[in-house]
Amino acid sequence: MAINKAGKILLNFKKRGTTENNINGGGALLSENTAFHVREAYKAMRTNVMFSVPEEGCKVIGVTSAVPSEGKSTTVLNLAITFAETGSKVILIDADMRRPNIKKILNAGEGAGLSDVLARFVTPREVISASGYENLDVIFSGNIPPNPVELLASDTMKDLIESLKAEYDYIFIDTPPINVVTDATVVSRLVHGIIMVTRENVSRKDEVAEAMNKLLFVNAKILGLVLNDRMYQSKRRTRYGKYKRYYYYRDYERHD
Ligand SMILES: Nc1ncnc2c1ncn2[C@@H]1O[C@H](COP(=O)(O)OP(=O)(O)O)[C@@H](O)[C@H]1O
Ligand SMILES: [Mg+2]
Repeated sequence: MAINKAGKILLNFKKRGTTENNINGGGALLSENTAFHVREAYKAMRTNVMFSVPEEGCKVIGVTSAVPSEGKSTTVLNLAITFAETGSKVILIDADMRRPNIKKILNAGEGAGLSDVLARFVTPREVISASGYENLDVIFSGNIPPNPVELLASDTMKDLIESLKAEYDYIFIDTPPINVVTDATVVSRLVHGIIMVTRENVSRKDEVAEAMNKLLFVNAKILGLVLNDRMYQSKRRTRYGKYKRYYYYRDYERHD
């Protein structure tokens, strides 16, 4: 299976079973209250990513997963925070223009973002926001566009990444699930490598293999797998996990 060929485990974090396993007692964003072992797991992932992407200059790293709610947005944001802690200049782009989570996780308000830059309504300068974390800027996904794939495949997207490379040491890109929509495949052409997030009790081996094959088919460099492992609230599990195994484009387009 593709996983053995292309991936290695970058992060296997957290034991299950207690509230201590919630990253910070309920929320999922790294903070001072985050358990030591969770912080260490992210640092280990940072080190692995650093070794996996030895290129000179700015490194561009995408994060995706097979299906919704495996923890892509949580992982990429926490990873970006962990990189920023080293003093590197980091920017996170929320390229999931269908279900934009980063804005929600950071409690940011409405406003222009990536989609608006790609549609040429605004300039990149106008959408770079401070994240609240030192050394970490964010470009939120912006107004929900009808054609995310076309926007991501545009020259404007390429130009945006090129211009950000001049200013940042690391660019992280959050994407939608690759088994549901093709956006991450398009993004994979713009990055040095892709991290695949999986989640215990949610991710299925065949789905992960399908996702990996999609990436390998377009010659993406898969940096490795993250095993995001936590107790899952039964409500969410019903919605996305255990009982619903088929994900359709139209479902993903439906917003909460
Ligand atoms: N390791 C974790 N610990 C606690 N909550 C998590 C963890 N990973 C994800 N979550 C929660 O699961 C939900 C889905 O995660 P998210 O990162 O938005 O997934 P995705 O971007 O893959 O759809 C969110 O409510 C998030 O807070
Ligand atoms: Mg997400």
